[in-house]
Amino acid sequence: METRLSTGIEGLDRMLNGGLLPGRAYLVKGAPGTGKTTLAMHFAMAGVSRGESVMYITLEESAETLRTDMTRLGFNLNDPHLTIIDATPIGDNYVFMDTFFDSFAKGFDKMVSAIKDELRTRRYTRIVIDPITMVKLTSTDEIEYRRLFLSFLKSMHKRGITLVMTSEVEKTDVEEYLVSGIIELKSFDLEGELVRGIRITKLRGSGFDTAIRPYVISDGGIVVFTDKILTIPSSFKT
Ligand SMILES: Nc1ncnc2c1ncn2[C@@H]1O[C@H](COP(=O)(O)OP(=O)(O)OP(=O)(O)O)[C@@H](O)[C@H]1O
Ligand SMILES: [Mg+2]
Repeated sequence: METRLSTGIEGLDRMLNGGLLPGRAYLVKGAPGTGKTTLAMHFAMAGVSRGESVMYITLEESAETLRTDMTRLGFNLNDPHLTIIDATPIGDNYVFMDTFFDSFAKGFDKMVSAIKDELRTRRYTRIVIDPITMVKLTSTDEIEYRRLFLSFLKSMHKRGITLVMTSEVEKTDVEEYLVSGIIELKSFDLEGELVRGIRITKLRGSGFDTAIRPYVISDGGIVVFTDKILTIPSSFKT
């Protein structure tokens, strides 16, 4: 069987028929607070635990809060195999945010060249961009965005790097056509209680579990229950 990469979440690996295909790009979509960062960190730390070098680019949450929040969930972010790049406006490393109001192309190019610089220092195998939405916001030209995004995915693919990007966008967006897989996180109001459901909507080159499975976020991070299906009355959908 071909190699699959663990996401660090057992139930999600099962939904993915064993895990992610290496060298490809994946999108984790969800509304605020659904667990996108937590899922991305599971993926990052699964690589770290195998001795891989992992780059985690944080664009909204400062490295400091990310550390605090994720340490609370039981992740050890001090592992030398993990490089956290703080690309928030107040971060130490202004990857591209200083050009936020410039053209998108300049901003995105800057981020990509910063990533490539870092790639020269180590052989990274996994990269997380959390969230890609921030990059997209600098875009004024849709065609240029597509071109840059695709060439970025290609250059990561060439290096055998598996990419996980988070996205806050609810509606279908251009990235969804370009990535190899999409994982959706949703929360529902079920009789006054918040319930969470995870679903795979796309996975190129593989079969996958098409059901919405319930998941929880607790002290150990995300747990997906693949033996249960989440049935939500349509009137409860949020
Ligand atoms: N120990 C815990 N027990 C239960 N829930 C927790 C725990 N730690 C964090 N959470 C929940 O996890 C969620 C935050 O997850 P995360 O930051 O990964 O979401 P996100 O989708 O990245 O959010 P955002 O859109 O704001 O970036 C919150 O709703 C929080 O309440
Ligand atoms: Mg987040």
